[in-house]
Amino acid sequence: MHNLAYISDPSSSPNLISTPPTVQLFQHAVKQVVATTGSSPLQPMAASESKPPSPAPAPYLPLPFSSNAAALQLITQGAEAHLYKTTFLSASRPVALKIRPKKQWRHAILDKRLTRSRILAEARVLAKCLREDVRVPAVLALDADDGWLIVEWIHGVTVKQALRERKANASTGTKETGGEDMELRALLRRVGAAVGKLHAAGIIHGDLTTSNMMVEPQVPQQQEESRDKLVPGALAGEIVLIDFGLATQAVQEEERAVDLYVLERAFGSTHPREEALFGEVLAAYEKSYKGARITLKRLEDVRMRGRKKEYAWLRRLRGGNWRKGGRFHFRPAHATEPAWG
Ligand SMILES: Nc1ncnc2c1ncn2[C@@H]1O[C@H](COP(=O)(O)OP(=O)(O)O)[C@@H](O)[C@H]1O
Ligand SMILES: [Mg+2]
Repeated sequence: MHNLAYISDPSSSPNLISTPPTVQLFQHAVKQVVATTGSSPLQPMAASESKPPSPAPAPYLPLPFSSNAAALQLITQGAEAHLYKTTFLSASRPVALKIRPKKQWRHAILDKRLTRSRILAEARVLAKCLREDVRVPAVLALDADDGWLIVEWIHGVTVKQALRERKANASTGTKETGGEDMELRALLRRVGAAVGKLHAAGIIHGDLTTSNMMVEPQVPQQQEESRDKLVPGALAGEIVLIDFGLATQAVQEEERAVDLYVLERAFGSTHPREEALFGEVLAAYEKSYKGARITLKRLEDVRMRGRKKEYAWLRRLRGGNWRKGGRFHFRPAHATEPAWG
């Protein structure tokens, strides 16, 4: 009460007793504005005065690309990298330009060092793959300090898109025939063989998903120009692995098994309808190099560890015995070992 008396004398205005001091000050200010300008400052802003929504900031482009941004077609803008389609050296040579933008929240020197080492690591791994005859985009140019890498453009769709397209066709009436199923199985076997070849070369991809592999249809040379039109939905074609930003060179079966496990989990969650066919990937992988069997054996351990972690997590979540409820089922449909637990 004493602070009310401090602002003004309550006896002059009985309403002040129940009005908080900040509101009183505000009411007083409004009255002053009305008295001097004749209009209330509290009127809503006219629609024409409201600011138009500001466009999303353009992604950062290093030199020389910033001088000709129109020549770049933004394909994806992830947290780590922006991917553009453009041309390089000749107008008829499409390429993929991957830019790792500066991270404002990271210390500038650390950011530069990290970007540099990632660009160089990716280029080194790609170069090694090419030497070992693993199909990946060829490296054409890079500037590690500025954080960009130019690689060959792959004419095709990602395996994810190819599978989605197939599913969309099936749900819009085109009947899923045995032939299409064979085509899908063959595609998955090619995926397994490609991953096996990568592992045989001593490389761990680090982020194996169906978005990080593409299907490149084999087109006769005379049809080169029209190849982009031939692409959508094609399950036939060579598998090209892409996105080696997290790749490492390693020879331990544990790392290879974890690489496969990442793919298995990603496949199951992205393509639940095709999950049962993942065994085709593993079957082809098994035949692809000498140590593949040992890796697959290790994969069983990795799966078990993964399930134990999920079990512990679920127990914490449900606070009881989740198996009684029986609602959760974590075994991949293709797994052959006896059900855990
Ligand atoms: N060399 C390439 N040729 C054609 N398309 C590509 C190429 N590299 C990437 N892409 C396309 O860009 C997408 C994102 O590229 P990616 O290298 O996976 O970057 P991110 O780190 O954002 O996942 C891919 O899913 C693919 O559709
Ligand atoms: Mg990717």
